[in-house]
Amino acid sequence: MTRFAHRIDQALTFHAMEVTKAAQQLREQGRDIISLGIGEPDFTAPPIVVDTLARAAQAGLSGYSPALGIMPLRTAIADYYKSHWGAEIDPQQVIVTAGASGALSLACMTLLNPGDEILMPDPAYPANSNFIVCAGATPRLVPCTAQERFQLSADKIATHWTDKTRGVLIASPSNPTGTSIEREELVRIIQTVRERGGVVIMDEIYLGLCYDRVPRSALTLDPEIVVINSFSKYFNMTGWRLGWMVVPANMVEPVEKLAASLSICPPTLAQHAAISCFTEEALAIYENRRLAFMERRDFLLPRFEKLGIHVPVKPDGAFYIYADISQHGMSSDQFAHKLLHEAGVAVVPGLDFGPAYADKMIRVSYATALDRLHEVIERLQKIL
Ligand SMILES: Cc1ncc(COP(=O)(O)O)c(C=O)c1O
Repeated sequence: MTRFAHRIDQALTFHAMEVTKAAQQLREQGRDIISLGIGEPDFTAPPIVVDTLARAAQAGLSGYSPALGIMPLRTAIADYYKSHWGAEIDPQQVIVTAGASGALSLACMTLLNPGDEILMPDPAYPANSNFIVCAGATPRLVPCTAQERFQLSADKIATHWTDKTRGVLIASPSNPTGTSIEREELVRIIQTVRERGGVVIMDEIYLGLCYDRVPRSALTLDPEIVVINSFSKYFNMTGWRLGWMVVPANMVEPVEKLAASLSICPPTLAQHAAISCFTEEALAIYENRRLAFMERRDFLLPRFEKLGIHVPVKPDGAFYIYADISQHGMSSDQFAHKLLHEAGVAVVPGLDFGPAYADKMIRVSYATALDRLHEVIERLQKIL
């Protein structure tokens, strides 16, 4: 029998992927399943990005790139922070990675030692725990309330901070809640962590998908924090495996040391093509798509309430609705099972995002066309 490392026992299962598997099996049996499960935009890369990819491939630009990414892309990302997210950053501090996942993994491995603990809100993106575990450290989920927008507050961080705490991993807007951290609270959070000599890892993967506020990177508050982002969500390129992080100047070399051997470089062709994401033509398309996401959110929210699917905090970003289904007298697992098998609608049960609300909450991803969402409501009306 092959023996496995202890971290395999510590690692959590990503239930959203399990839901996708179950939905796929039903599809193979001929069922029409509408997926509100996995967090993946239904849009794909704009034509100009695809054309650039084809040209890069034809030009043979398919070798390894520098470990930190090609400089024109790092510069384009830095320029975008200035023009759209209010932050002036040095392109040298932008590190291109294999998705936000690659960035989170590298950040954890560069910053954490065995025995260190990282505070995160419960609910949080489930894979975060595994990045921390793989770095030998321990994730500490702190239950956060609807009054706190399901986000860590500075007070909670101060209360839960111990000698072992190395820092916090937060996301704004968040997966699974779609809620952002209020700017004043973020100021206090950063101050609380920095006073204790800790590190703030800030996941801004959904920053481009803000609906009710002007998106501002946390780098505008403190240039020394570690910020994660990606081409997966706002830029609709999940499978291209391209993301980035912005790190303090003295962290560039340590990350490079690991990145160069762990993955050699992020996908080179994808990097060449991604420069086109920042053209006026592509950005106009992305802006229209952001508005389409907002329209879907505004369509679903009131209809969910009528169906007894209660949304305690209005999501202001991302493409998720985190909803309380407890008035249906079922656990979230049973509820998700019923929706999948009786209505052909896939959603993710709360368990994925931490134990605090495992039983009573579900996550709905509305990265699905509006006409399909109309159908979701019709199907739910029939079974609920
Ligand atoms: C909050 C958050 N961070 C990171 C990721 C990973 O994204 P990717 O590796 O595709 O960039 C996701 C994906 O769903 C996410 O929701």
